[in-house]
Amino acid sequence: MIPSSYDILGSREKAIAIIEDMENPKEAAEHIMKEHKNVESVLMKLSERKGLQRKREYKLIIGNPDTEVIHKENYCRLKLDPRKTYFSGRESTERLRIAEKIEGGETVLVMFAGIGPFSILIAKKQPEVERIPSIEINPEAVKYMKENIKLNKVEGKVIPILGDVNEKSPDWFDQCDRIIMPLPHKAKDYLGLTGKCLKSDGGVIHLYIIESEENVEGETKNLIGNFQEKTAYKINYKIHKVLPYAPGVYKYCVDIQAK
Ligand SMILES: C[S@@+](CC[C@H](N)C(=O)[O-])C[C@H]1O[C@@H](n2cnc3c(N)ncnc32)[C@H](O)[C@@H]1O
Repeated sequence: MIPSSYDILGSREKAIAIIEDMENPKEAAEHIMKEHKNVESVLMKLSERKGLQRKREYKLIIGNPDTEVIHKENYCRLKLDPRKTYFSGRESTERLRIAEKIEGGETVLVMFAGIGPFSILIAKKQPEVERIPSIEINPEAVKYMKENIKLNKVEGKVIPILGDVNEKSPDWFDQCDRIIMPLPHKAKDYLGLTGKCLKSDGGVIHLYIIESEENVEGETKNLIGNFQEKTAYKINYKIHKVLPYAPGVYKYCVDIQAK
């Protein structure tokens, strides 16, 4: 049986498939490889995403033990190995939604930048962007981000920064027009920093959160209320539903306007 839900990352030349934890994974993997001739390896998820770096454990069920691929999405080629860094191809539509908002001349700070999918798409989609400092704490992800900057010819626009957002953001105080915060489990803890990174005339913050559909309005109201108390900007916001996360629970993006 081919499993009902699995992900494929990569290109026509080389791809990998990722299946859920299941019984008889070998049979499922063989079916997937027969169906998709470009799939060279099948990985099975063994854990949820965990820890600071949001990685998960996988087991190689069948195929090539080298699971590095060049994934094609939107206008970009992204080199990655899911065993070494976070990456989700399911978020490509959301990345495009954000990239389409960027105007020429903006400095866009990408916190929690991973292998660079937001940063690189923005640089390709809006060549007039000023610069895109991209902070990431996982050295393996920053290594891929640097390779992806070259692969996509966006040197000088995307600035890879290895380190903790808490320590590296102060280098960008008062310089940013827009801040992207794709760490849904914890990004809200860093919201205070964003007020310092924005230019004095304000800007936009895209804050990702995980919340139940039932509570999202109330929780966001509280969150933004607390932020408003600590900043001189006038804050307005809209909630955008991104993807399902668990039954009744979704990943949302709170698009925050600070003026
Ligand atoms: C959910 S992933 C998103 C990665 C990337 N933006 C993407 O969309 O593929 C969050 C990333 O934030 C990084 N991270 C977590 N805490 C961090 C911190 N305090 N400073 C910098 N990066 C951090 C993790 O290593 C991980 O790569």
